[in-house]
Amino acid sequence: MENYLKGNLYTNTADYYDYDNRDIIKDDLDFYVEYAAQTKGPILELGSGTGRVSLYLAEKTRRTVECVELSEAMIERFRHKLASSHKNLSPYLSIQCGDMEKFDLGRTFEYIIIPWRALQYLPEQEQTAACLRQVHRHLSNTGLFIFDIFKPRTYDAAWVGQEAVSYDIMDGDKRIIRSTVNCYANTVKKNIWYMNKIRVIEDGREDSKEDMLTYKYYDYEDITGILESLNFRIEAEFGYYDKRSIPEGDEMIFVCSKKS
Ligand SMILES: C[S@@+](CC[C@H](N)C(=O)[O-])C[C@H]1O[C@@H](n2cnc3c(N)ncnc32)[C@H](O)[C@@H]1O
Repeated sequence: MENYLKGNLYTNTADYYDYDNRDIIKDDLDFYVEYAAQTKGPILELGSGTGRVSLYLAEKTRRTVECVELSEAMIERFRHKLASSHKNLSPYLSIQCGDMEKFDLGRTFEYIIIPWRALQYLPEQEQTAACLRQVHRHLSNTGLFIFDIFKPRTYDAAWVGQEAVSYDIMDGDKRIIRSTVNCYANTVKKNIWYMNKIRVIEDGREDSKEDMLTYKYYDYEDITGILESLNFRIEAEFGYYDKRSIPEGDEMIFVCSKKS
């Protein structure tokens, strides 16, 4: 079961990542732009995927966005967008194939972000701490660091096997259905395994692609304890991008600075 160490990298499903049309994949964009305005200079995004947030930030702020992403498949999608639909933004984007647990860019940033639960793709708590230590090193003394994680659900026998459809859309004659299938939960280590499943139906034929993804989940006290131990100060915390409180939302979004 612990073969997730090979990575959570959308190796087979990266081409379908940008089809996701749920509100939660749009509602965070202006939130990250709003906080960018409180900072200056280049922005650093970790686990930047296909550039969903970085491209929007570059467009709105006209600042450089440095991206660290481990998945070659996701980077290929990102580069394809920079060469085609988002050509005008390519001068602002710099993409590095790297591990957010170990990166070293040799400079600091006033604004570092890990959007859309990407921190949870480091399934072990030691990996989370290693990543956040690197964030702390790369964050300037007056800088802001923002990340989002989900609030844990109940991971019992009823959770295992449940399938939820995230989107079911048409692209020309192709029907694309993305669902997640809950596979396994380790409630001691607090991580969960689920299958990211894509079905493509065209001309009566069906093709399917799958990636097993492993998430670390955190109770509120777990994550705030890690932040505290690594000398981050929580400037604000929200339960969703509209700034409702954590008890009122499904997410846990932390806006942090460095303790002096
Ligand atoms: C849910 S996606 C988020 C992508 C992007 N931030 C967004 O908001 O659309 C998580 C991303 O983290 C990447 N990832 C997983 N492990 C990583 C690691 N160790 N270092 C860097 N990126 C990683 C995955 O390949 C994936 O692109």
